[in-house]
Amino acid sequence: MFRVKPVAAGRLPELLRSMPKAELHMHIEGSLEPELIFALARRNDLQVPYPDVESLRRAYVFGNLQEFLDIYHAGTKVLRNEQDFYDMAWAYLRRAAADNVLHAELFFDTQTHTGHGVSADVVINGLHRACADAQTQLGISAALILCFLRHLSEAEAFEALEQAIPYRDKLVGIGLASSELGHPPEKFARVFAKARSLAFRLVAHAGEEGPPAYIWSALEALKVERIDHGVMAMQDPALIARLLQDGVPLTVCPLSNLKLRVFPSLAEHNLGCMLEAGLVATVNSDDPAYFGGYVNENFTQTFAALGLTAADAYQLAYNSFEASFIDASVKRGFQDRLAEVFETFE
Ligand code: ADE
Ligand code: ZN
Repeated sequence: MFRVKPVAAGRLPELLRSMPKAELHMHIEGSLEPELIFALARRNDLQVPYPDVESLRRAYVFGNLQEFLDIYHAGTKVLRNEQDFYDMAWAYLRRAAADNVLHAELFFDTQTHTGHGVSADVVINGLHRACADAQTQLGISAALILCFLRHLSEAEAFEALEQAIPYRDKLVGIGLASSELGHPPEKFARVFAKARSLAFRLVAHAGEEGPPAYIWSALEALKVERIDHGVMAMQDPALIARLLQDGVPLTVCPLSNLKLRVFPSLAEHNLGCMLEAGLVATVNSDDPAYFGGYVNENFTQTFAALGLTAADAYQLAYNSFEASFIDASVKRGFQDRLAEVFETFE
């Protein structure tokens, strides 16, 4: 294993910002900044139910996941045309490149948009074009993961999957998002099995607010390869053992957990315990426009609050590539670039 040189605490933020990384857990609709919401509303001749950008941003105070999802859903109503989806994804990808993200896996949910009368092809084509341009113009790779909305029915998830099949080559995976409590993963076992038969990579949100049983269910019933969030796993030693045994990655989102009151403060976040246990944890932004920062902000604030070290930084960035759905040879290349940055950092 690569030996990480100690780095003075004062220099750590710069290392965190400059290290190459992958982002594996972000909802592209959650990157819609208030300024872009207003710009798209103007372009599409729609009303935003807030007088200006500042008052909209002031409304971003949440008591739990559901309170956030209600505001997030309202924001998505300004997305009408392919160019809107392109502009949203392009804005995120530029931000990601500035944070030294070399590879990003973007969640999106067609059901939100088809529910507003926007077809799946408009959504997928707009997002995919931005991902393709990110490769040629920003030099970063980006892939799309379609998330089913778990508060809707199994039949509606099957419908979303059917609609996505013509765009199979533009998507890398299938995920599960939205209101967790009261919507355990097993409801979607059959549609995940269908997705698996179509060679989609599988992930699911589990253990964000929900109990460890939901993480077990995501693993056993849905057969996912990664758990999104998974912070509640730390309550269940048998589950920790299972995650360790299979090297199941957890895509942790510290600022999201703080803003949605999963932890009372970042200093009480369990990311450090996950790393100590040897879990394949990663750091991600979830919904950066709503939760106070993009991926580097998640790294710098969490490291400051938990007193994490350069060795932790290396491990988290290494894990982000390891847990990604990129080809093995590209993965190794990114991990080599990571080691080089740590070797040459003064
Ligand atoms: N959709 C967008 N953000 C989400 C989150 N943090 N949890 C579940 N569903 C989401
Ligand atoms: Zn999420």
